[in-house]
Amino acid sequence: MMPFPAGQHILLGITGGVAAYKSADLVRRLSSQGAEIQVVMTEAAKAFISPLTLQALSGRPVRDTLLDTEAESGMGHIDLGRWADTLLVAPASADFIAKLAGGLASDLLTTVCLATAAPVVIAPAMNQAMWLKPATQRNIQTLAADGVHLIGPDSGEQACGDIGPGRMLETWDIISELESLNVKKSLAGIKVTVTAGPTWEALDPVRGLSNHSSGKMGYAVAEAALKAGAEVNLISGPTTLSPPRDVVLHHVRSADEMLNAVKRVATDCDIFIGVAAVADYRPSQIEMSKIKKDAKHVTLELIRNPDILSWVTSQETKPFTVGFAAETDNPLEHARQKLEKKSLDIIAVNHVSADHSPFGSDENQLVVITPDEDIDLGRHPKTRLASTLIDTISKKFHESYKT
Ligand code: PMT
Repeated sequence: MMPFPAGQHILLGITGGVAAYKSADLVRRLSSQGAEIQVVMTEAAKAFISPLTLQALSGRPVRDTLLDTEAESGMGHIDLGRWADTLLVAPASADFIAKLAGGLASDLLTTVCLATAAPVVIAPAMNQAMWLKPATQRNIQTLAADGVHLIGPDSGEQACGDIGPGRMLETWDIISELESLNVKKSLAGIKVTVTAGPTWEALDPVRGLSNHSSGKMGYAVAEAALKAGAEVNLISGPTTLSPPRDVVLHHVRSADEMLNAVKRVATDCDIFIGVAAVADYRPSQIEMSKIKKDAKHVTLELIRNPDILSWVTSQETKPFTVGFAAETDNPLEHARQKLEKKSLDIIAVNHVSADHSPFGSDENQLVVITPDEDIDLGRHPKTRLASTLIDTISKKFHESYKT
């Protein structure tokens, strides 16, 4: 996953709270995606996590003192505020939130928050009673009115044993929220078409041929493309899912209907992503009335469905085209054959094994194959995998215009 343009400067403020242990993971994951991290800690935060750990993970000495002549002669609090593209405070304690709402500049972190022109994002973490107190809620409303972005908190079991709202969001959720706030979006202005779900090939008015695709992977890909700033058309076979807000949804049933919808929108798109599990065959004829069960044997004649991806790539001005493949045997080899046969730019291969099927599950495992390299995206929840996939597609799409 690469939610930030490489080299994005994130100033991570850490305040005193048990959730400070999650900050180490946050630094590691953001750094591994190419962001540059400068950690600023409060005195209370140092009781929960060592500055040395954060220095090792961020590659920069942690800043913790406002009136440190040595540090101020280098990058002082004003320069820190200017350096930051985003100022993220995670965890943000009740005390810090109160200070920020009151406009205090009593330590380095609150001072940088006041001095910076960068967006300030806070991820609160505190006991549920403290979170629910009118004073905290008033402070939160003040911060929201001041333009501070609030992410979380989560609700559930707390370190103190209480149950309720106030838990800091998990690392990936914070990154995902940051991603949607991020102004420099990798697919801003780009038109993306995604197909998702199964197709339904009718046999008669009540029966048909289909498969176990739930649409989860395709809907997650559409949502990740939206978050990356794209305009998204989602062409979906029958599913029970709610579409992501802001996509243009096209409901279809059969492969033929899917192709017709693709013909309407894909001629005007920059990136086409075929996640749908399209039936390769359909009954040669659809009975107008329900097939009766009098006969001992019924023979179905099936005919080939059109190949939607091949239609897309056969167009004179074809979009950057991404296919999916669900394979049981020699997955990489078979997927490479599909990449070539359908003239794709990228194919994403699902791992289908005896103990795991991507169909219907919330998790998936993908390897992305391009003509030059194989990129293992690992096994993760589909939402997270979709973000990583969109980042990979976006990178390759932009590179394809440079060559
Ligand atoms: O929906 P979920 O439950 O979340 O499951 C996700 C998924 C497993 C369906 C998804 O990740 C996936 O792998 N989709 C492709 C499934 C597949 O087996 O595709 P295929 O090998 O039949 O086709 C390869 C590619 O050609 C696909 O991009 C497909 O959309 C496309 N195709 C296939 C047939 C056809 N007639 N036209 C096509 O465009």
